[in-house]
Amino acid sequence: MTHRLPDLPYPADALEPRMSSETLSLHHGKHHATYVEKLNALIEGAAFGDATLSDIVAQAHGGIFNNAAQAWNHAFFWNCLRPDGGGDPRGDLAAAIDRDFGSTEALRQEFSSQLMTLFGSGWVWLAKDSDGKLSVESCGNAGNPITDGKLPILTCDIWEHAYYVDYRNQKKDYIDAFWHLVNWDFAAENFDRDAPFEP
Ligand SMILES: [Fe+2]
Repeated sequence: MTHRLPDLPYPADALEPRMSSETLSLHHGKHHATYVEKLNALIEGAAFGDATLSDIVAQAHGGIFNNAAQAWNHAFFWNCLRPDGGGDPRGDLAAAIDRDFGSTEALRQEFSSQLMTLFGSGWVWLAKDSDGKLSVESCGNAGNPITDGKLPILTCDIWEHAYYVDYRNQKKDYIDAFWHLVNWDFAAENFDRDAPFEP
């Protein structure tokens, strides 16, 4: 199966001024696209011919894992943002956040703290384990909680390419922007899933 770069779920300028069209054009059109191209080159004639992207993330190692996970992580991340995002979660997800973190504000603080302290490139995730319990997980490089048997609910890309054009070294300002763009409806859809999102 040839994997394709999914379109952004909104126009490239839709997240301005918090995330510029220059950032989205480079991040989606160059970085994300390259991971998809490299994945297709690596799996040509190899294993994983019929596997979905999340299956490859769950099973692969080395270069195939890195490129498959980066392809999946970015497709997921675009959906974690939206124009007029922000606010607080509702419904079952909000109840689970209150149960496992105390409040949405406590979750935001834990998630932001892990984003600030993650050393090097990576991703911070809100994830759900097989018992339905939520946790915040820091993963270096292409890491994804699927490999630990957990279901991704929400993520923020903390590779420098995600924020350097707009925020230079001001990581905290990027994290503040993330909370103004966050798509809690997508997180709630993921919370209701039994299997990972499939781009
Ligand atoms: Fe990225």
